[in-house]
Amino acid sequence: MKLSTALLKWYSKHARAMPWRGHPNPYAVWVSEIMLQQTRVETVIPYFEKWMKLFPDVKSLANASERDVLNAWEGLGYYSRARNLHKAAKTVASKFNGQLPLDLTDLRTLPGIGRYTVGAIASIAFNMDEPTLDGNLRRVFARLYDVTEFADSPAGEKILWAFAAQNLPKGKAGEYNQALMDLGATICLPKNPRCLLCPLTKICTARKNGTQALRPVLKLKKQAPHYVHAAAVMVRRGSVLLSQRPADGLLGGMWEFPNARVSGDPAAELAKALRSASRLQIKRGAAFCIVQHAYSHFKVTVHAFRCESVFIPKNKNLKWVKIKELDDYPMGKVDRQIAKKL
Ligand code: ADE
Repeated sequence: MKLSTALLKWYSKHARAMPWRGHPNPYAVWVSEIMLQQTRVETVIPYFEKWMKLFPDVKSLANASERDVLNAWEGLGYYSRARNLHKAAKTVASKFNGQLPLDLTDLRTLPGIGRYTVGAIASIAFNMDEPTLDGNLRRVFARLYDVTEFADSPAGEKILWAFAAQNLPKGKAGEYNQALMDLGATICLPKNPRCLLCPLTKICTARKNGTQALRPVLKLKKQAPHYVHAAAVMVRRGSVLLSQRPADGLLGGMWEFPNARVSGDPAAELAKALRSASRLQIKRGAAFCIVQHAYSHFKVTVHAFRCESVFIPKNKNLKWVKIKELDDYPMGKVDRQIAKKL
């Protein structure tokens, strides 16, 4: 049986239920695809449902404040996805009359929409015969064709995109792409793939060669560095001092307790490190808590201390925030854990 025939037959029985499936509203497909980048379906579903209530269409998202957008995204990680979605919604509202453009070149110009997302939106929302290739599909094709090239190299990518395009069933690309995503998420697993249950087991080259565990071939990742930060928790009359991160980069626009990276003892270095990082002068008090977090490319341990302010520079990024209102300020996981202890 042909790859697509066997796959679509399997999908007709085993498709996972997801709130954005079955009624392909392009905006909903777009939001779901952005949320699903680097994030599992089970994690995404409650965020997606809340998001669609808060921002049911492009216009409501375009008109929302950045703080509301980041708040709704809080906990999903990779916050540039939310900022890009927000920026792109403003462009779609102003330039494309609130409708995602059907022209794929236009679609690709929107922030946060790369080749993968274009393929997903075009096939799922617009029913176009377009391939896509995410991490799941990369693994499935690397095994189906026993690809020995590094899957995360330009040459490997090229081969895998060609396989993704080569097998597309006309008029059914959306189902086909999503079937491959589901197959990768439930059967063709990174470790211990469930080949006995796989609808493609008879045509899988890696299965035939016994190389499933070796595919995809990926470059060795460098070990993530581990940083230590010291943070200041300053409370004054029911408020606490927060600092807003720069708009771009990691956790862009989100709020945090003033902190700085240290190279030795966090308690000894905090005051000096804060002074040179942000001209903030403090007197360090007792240890408050220690929080750890693993980001995609590094790990961090944050030592938070109660502190008293000595000098606070006039700085738009610094703000005294009522402890009762901390939930209104979007934060990353580390700072939210500190905030919850107040
Ligand atoms: N991962 C990314 N997009 C997906 C989709 N539409 N269905 C299932 N898994 C996905």
